[in-house]
Parts: sequence; C-alpha cells; structure tokens
Amino acid sequence: MAKLALVLLLFTLFMAMPLLQSTFGESSKEVASITNTSPTLFGAVFIFDDPLTEGPEGTSRLVGRAQGLYGSADQQELGLLVAVNFVFTTGKFNASSLTILGRNVALNPPAEMPIIGGTGVFRFARGFVMAKRHFLNVASGNGVLNYNVFVIHY
Ligand SMILES: *[C@@H]1O[C@H](CO)[C@@H](O)[C@H](O)[C@H]1NC(C)=O
Repeated sequence: MAKLALVLLLFTLFMAMPLLQSTFGESSKEVASITNTSPTLFGAVFIFDDPLTEGPEGTSRLVGRAQGLYGSADQQELGLLVAVNFVFTTGKFNASSLTILGRNVALNPPAEMPIIGGTGVFRFARGFVMAKRHFLNVASGNGVLNYNVFVIHY
C-alpha cells in the first residue's frame, strides 16, 4: 500500500498588483448600483491576470500567473473578497495550481487568507497565505504584493 507523504511547504511569492484604477464609472455595467455612491466602492469588481515571481523585482524568475478577482464586499471599510488561482508554469509545480479564497482589508495588512485547495501536486491542499504590499505606486496603480504561502498537501 502506498504511503501518503504529508508535506509542509513554505515559500514566498510575489505578484504584480493589478491596476486599481479600473474602469468603474457611470458607464460601467458590472458594478452594483450602490458602488458610485459608496465610500468603500461596495460592489466594484476587479479581475486580474498578473505575473507570479520568486522575488519582488521585475527581473525575478517567473513561476506562474496569479489570476482572479477582487470584489469590494464591505460597506463599512475597504474590505475585499479575494479569489485567486496561483497557476504554476515552471519547475516541479508546473501545471499545478493553488486556490486562495478570503478577505483582505486593504488598509490593515498583512491579510491572512485561506488556501482552500489545489490541483496537480496540490490536490487536497490546505493552508493559508499572509499577503502584504511590497510596493505601490499610487499614481500609476502598479505595485507588487508579497505572499508568504503555508500549504500542506499530500
Ligand atoms: C509545463 O507543463 C506544460 C504542460 O504539461 C508543458 O507543455 C510545458 O513544457 C511545461 N513547462 C516547463 C517549463 O516545464
């Protein structure tokens, strides 16, 4: 009978941050009707597909893509519903993925968010990430997020 190996992985990844100045204006149709009058942009949704790298520099090794969405889901403070797939495209995790689903209170880092599963080598994965801002250029909306990833899988 095959023995199942329990592996605890701990690694750090960096994700280029999506443009925060996405198009949610009077003309956009994908936002809730309250969004334009809400101080927390309640109802706004941002979809992203960003490079996932080992380090924070643009020249750092690319390990995959971070794809997902932020939805503004809190009417009292800037609280985001975050759903992200880390899609690995190289190395021993190539073609495997991790799925994060949680809440990020943007003004109160670091954000702890659960890893709710994965595919490939990450089947049955459980864990959490600690996400914090590494760099943000408010003017351009570009930035880098730092993810510390703690994941258990078989
Ligand atoms: C990753 O996996 C895909 C699909 O299996 C394969 O086509 C590709 O060559 C692999 N890339 C690397 C860098 O191993």
